[in-house]
Amino acid sequence: MDRSITTHQDRQRYTVTTPIYYATKPPHVGHAYTTIAADVLARLHRNVGQDVHFLTGTDEHGAKVAEIANQSGQGPQEYTDTIASQYQEAWKALAIQYDDFIRTTEQRHVQGVQKATQYLKDEGFLYEKSYSGLYCVGCESFVSEDDLDEKGLEPLHQRKPEIIEEKNWFFALEKVLPSVRKLITDGTFHIVPLERRNEVLGLLEHGMEDFSVSRPAKRVPWGIPMPFDSTQTIYVWVDALLNYVTALGYGSSEGGRMDRFWPADVHIIGPDILKFHAIYWPAILLALGQATPRMLAVHGYFTVDGKKMSKTLGNEVSPFDLVQRYGSDAARYLILSGFPFGQSGDVAQEKFDERYNADLAHTFGNFVSRVTQLIGKYANGEVPDIDPDDTFIQPVKDAASRLRKEMLDNAPDKEITMVRSFLVEIGGVLNTEIDRAAPWLEKDDIARDRVLRGCIEAVFLYANLVSPLLPNAAQAVRHALSADSLPYDGSEGLSPGMKVTKPESLFPKVS
Ligand code: MSP
Repeated sequence: MDRSITTHQDRQRYTVTTPIYYATKPPHVGHAYTTIAADVLARLHRNVGQDVHFLTGTDEHGAKVAEIANQSGQGPQEYTDTIASQYQEAWKALAIQYDDFIRTTEQRHVQGVQKATQYLKDEGFLYEKSYSGLYCVGCESFVSEDDLDEKGLEPLHQRKPEIIEEKNWFFALEKVLPSVRKLITDGTFHIVPLERRNEVLGLLEHGMEDFSVSRPAKRVPWGIPMPFDSTQTIYVWVDALLNYVTALGYGSSEGGRMDRFWPADVHIIGPDILKFHAIYWPAILLALGQATPRMLAVHGYFTVDGKKMSKTLGNEVSPFDLVQRYGSDAARYLILSGFPFGQSGDVAQEKFDERYNADLAHTFGNFVSRVTQLIGKYANGEVPDIDPDDTFIQPVKDAASRLRKEMLDNAPDKEITMVRSFLVEIGGVLNTEIDRAAPWLEKDDIARDRVLRGCIEAVFLYANLVSPLLPNAAQAVRHALSADSLPYDGSEGLSPGMKVTKPESLFPKVS
């Protein structure tokens, strides 16, 4: 199976996306988790010179958004303007370097969605039908009796579904379902981890019904009007999924980027939105005659201190609070690294101080500050002009090439897991090696310089290696080594005589 990243006109490019977040309330660390994961991937691939497009944004239409905006006493546009800017601020605070932020209320999106639905109608994929069913506003989708808990509530949102009877436009899923199944089974469309792929195949086995792509405008006025039927609003999930292509100019005058960046190499999503992305989305794309994404990387749903985050429990953790206490890089690390990517897990807040001190202050921060101080003391604050001791360089180079292999193989789950484990593993090895070599006890200048040269090269390579996770710290280290302009891919090392200073307050201990 070919999972290698997409080539376009002989240039390797990489397209990664997050889901677009409901503009109902400000982001919490659950949303930050998805976005940090995508940012790490985007930075990893940028570092090796790929043409990267990283897309995120906000999902601003639908009954749920309208309901909350209404409760706040604002109009939906005014309300979503505020929430969208809170998302943008949070991403700035977390050093998220996206290439585009799409809002579904933007004209470019509205135009693209209308164009797509018109196309689906013209190609015979849409038909009208009266429908009666249970609707959960929390999920923004119809649910069946079997989905409800013993109290008759939809389990994820703990809401009683409404009984709805109405005329809707339906998408003839049945027509493309065998092709969707084939894309998944023949490996054209990868879903990782494996359990999620099996979950999707199970759903397909069980049979999927056609889904409705519109709601009566009278009931759901906040949305994009169906271009060929003004009594209907386009269903929010169809509206939302199309963001991945409208952001690239599909159906609007800003076209052109589709050619360069579509299909996406990876959509990062949580498990709650798997069905929409693994079945509905490729089905819509097939009907539109567009290429399907190459991979869906599904992460786990996590709890905080053992509980699901919710407004009612009042335990939603704001990314801003973490940034304030630990700084931007450490907040990224603590949010992303509580448990392996792809699994569900718990983020224990009481362990944050401990993990920060152990993994960042004592490991990364410690090695960098020891080596830069030693260079100041024994080598006039300059990279020594001597062949380096390879003991320090080799483990970092080996780690970088293992990571590179996963990147070429388009294995986002492994790429993310590797970066965060290398931060601790490589730091551990380097600190142990410098203790063993003890250059501060070395009487022979040449032998000491060889160790110091090896150590400072290792600092540089180690900072490059973990830069996707800790971008600010890596930048500070590279600056302290006068290496701002050197490439991040390790193709060029430090040169003798380059000035070395100690970077300021790199992960100071917290207590
Ligand atoms: N708007 C839809 C997505 C449309 S994409 C075309 C939506 N938005 S959401 O804001 O509810 O969720 C967005 C993402 O955040 C999902 O991938 C979801 O899994 C993730 N998370 C929200 N809370 C989370 C946790 N507690 N843990 C992990 N991820 C979480 O769904």
